[in-house]
Amino acid sequence: MSKKNQTLGEFIIENQQAFPYSSGELSRLINSIRLAAKVVNHEVNKAGLVDITGAVGDTNIQGEEQQKLDVYANQKFIQTLTNREIVCGIASEENDEYITIQGHNKDHKNKYVVLMDPLDGSSNIDVNVSVGTIFSVYRRVTPIGTPVTMEDFLQPGNLQVAAGYIIYGTSTMLVYTTGHGVNGFTLNPAIGTYYLSHPNMKFSEDGNIYSVNEGNYAQFPRGVKDYIKYCQAEEDDRPYTSRYIGSLVSDIHRNMIKGGIYIYPGSSKYPDGKLRLLYECNPMAFIAEQAGGKASNGFKRIMDIKPTELHERVPFFCGSKNMVEKAEECMRNAKEK
Ligand code: AHG
Ligand code: MN
Ligand code: MN
Repeated sequence: MSKKNQTLGEFIIENQQAFPYSSGELSRLINSIRLAAKVVNHEVNKAGLVDITGAVGDTNIQGEEQQKLDVYANQKFIQTLTNREIVCGIASEENDEYITIQGHNKDHKNKYVVLMDPLDGSSNIDVNVSVGTIFSVYRRVTPIGTPVTMEDFLQPGNLQVAAGYIIYGTSTMLVYTTGHGVNGFTLNPAIGTYYLSHPNMKFSEDGNIYSVNEGNYAQFPRGVKDYIKYCQAEEDDRPYTSRYIGSLVSDIHRNMIKGGIYIYPGSSKYPDGKLRLLYECNPMAFIAEQAGGKASNGFKRIMDIKPTELHERVPFFCGSKNMVEKAEECMRNAKEK
């Protein structure tokens, strides 16, 4: 059983033994993510010191300006995941196309694909606010030893075998699930070791924080406006307060610890919202559900959506179960009107 102060290394070994048929590859994959996260953490911590911040000049497929650290984190995660014989393909928010790690080679036994947002909340770097990395892992569906295809990446979230995030905050934490609850590990930077600091993380059923970019209020669908008004109403001394960092990882992390809902809805300008189903919403949904919370597009479970393209976006409602259900009720009622 997990013990507080256990190191991530010890935790991985102990939990691998709990699955007698596991070949240890998933453990090695998590291990390589923890390594890349340390390297990226080191660089993120230096962001204010060296001239590494600022846009690199490129725009990614979504037409957004890339920050230098986005590119750096992307490279580090790709390198680390490629150099081990576990992963056969990677899709990243920063790459237009997926990356094939093994071609036609029957000796390659690599069976996992990784989808990631290497640096989330990147617009916060220049102002010294927490950023993160989000990852999602699936078993490939095409035969081992052949090149990966789009089919391997366009799997619904309910087939994820692992997902997690790293938060580069006041402390750096790795939080992940392999479908057996959610555990959080804090990095001791002096010795480069992660310790189990948050075993068995849970979203409380009810929460009092709602997190949404209210600057877009005028463009929100009726249901989201109604939910915000519900939270703000004086009736029954409603307990709600608003917190929004603008960094999904940080907003979800805080809400999981304190209880709350995160909403990035569709809008009149952007009907599918901003967040990406494969790199952001599915992994966060897996974590939320494993922590007793819920994740929805306002009407249905995020993890039941069958993706149709790599960089697909989706409205996102995620957090404490009762809060998400109340928001869904507002969405339903507004639709029926
Ligand atoms: P990224 O830095 O990977 O592009 O993600 C930014 C995302 C997410 O982290 C955050 O919740 C959201 O964008 C904030 O968007 P707004 O600034 O529109 O509120
Ligand atoms: Mn992001
Ligand atoms: Mn990003």
